[in-house]
Amino acid sequence: MKSLNEMSKITVVGAGNVGATCANVLAHADAVNEVVLIDIQGNMAKGKALDMWQQAPIDGYSTRVVGGDDYTLTAGSDIVIITAGIPRKPGMSRDDLIATNAKIVVSVTENILKHTKNPIIIVVSNPLDVMTYACWKASGLSDKRVIGMAGVLDTARYRAFLAEALDISPKDIQAVLMGGHGDTMVPLPRYTTVSGIPVTELIRKDKLDAILERTKVGGGELVNLMGTSAWYAPGAAAAQMAITILKDEKRIFPCCVRLNGQYKLKDIFVGAPVKLGKKGIQEIIKLRLKKDELALLHKSAEAVKEVADALDAMKLF
Ligand code: LAC
Repeated sequence: MKSLNEMSKITVVGAGNVGATCANVLAHADAVNEVVLIDIQGNMAKGKALDMWQQAPIDGYSTRVVGGDDYTLTAGSDIVIITAGIPRKPGMSRDDLIATNAKIVVSVTENILKHTKNPIIIVVSNPLDVMTYACWKASGLSDKRVIGMAGVLDTARYRAFLAEALDISPKDIQAVLMGGHGDTMVPLPRYTTVSGIPVTELIRKDKLDAILERTKVGGGELVNLMGTSAWYAPGAAAAQMAITILKDEKRIFPCCVRLNGQYKLKDIFVGAPVKLGKKGIQEIIKLRLKKDELALLHKSAEAVKEVADALDAMKLF
């Protein structure tokens, strides 16, 4: 990572809804010199980037936004965010996307590595946990530098639902959840606070349980409403992780990471709270989970492992 007075650059691969939103949030944050938007539909990426650059004088940011299909544009990226792949349609699970998206994520990763030696990569493509694993395998990068975006989004949904139920600002809600980005995700309500107050003191258990259940299928709720998967919160979540890394803020977010013995899980990518900084994952936070919480986490990891096995059987690397 460069010092603050050097050029910084973030590449977003995939100029669809999530990628374009992510690039737009990054541009507005004015935290990076250049945002590169890459897509196999080169003109679409070029056009959306140009549109965002023309938004700069209106909204008052200096971030240069460029786009296209040429990976030479991505050379020297500090961070690469991979959003490429097909989204879910109603009735599909994230896992149904593996056959198409694994090939895309592997090929994108190889192209990125041709032009940037040691980037930090944030994966957003679904099925998230296994696509993060695929990217890590294809990249040959340290497992501290390949991170999946899921927990920031899932906790954001949870915080938004809670804010509505409690009639308070979502800003004041802190939460963590673990496990895979799917219906087996593991909410940890005893770690949820509202400005330091345990949420369990503010809401009835049945109400909280209903919110947790809605959170688990929060992505599906949006797929059913829109006929495709969400993009505003997912794009902003990936951008937030990138900015934290770029600024070396060392914030703690739930992210998809390779566990190597933590939580009695080994060599598997699932969600856990981590400290993010300029080196990528600077620390995996070890919570003292209760027996039932750990059991839920292991069940979620098993579900991810099944999909990871399917990926291995594809013999892409
Ligand atoms: C969702 C997709 C991005 O949860 O997985 O909306």
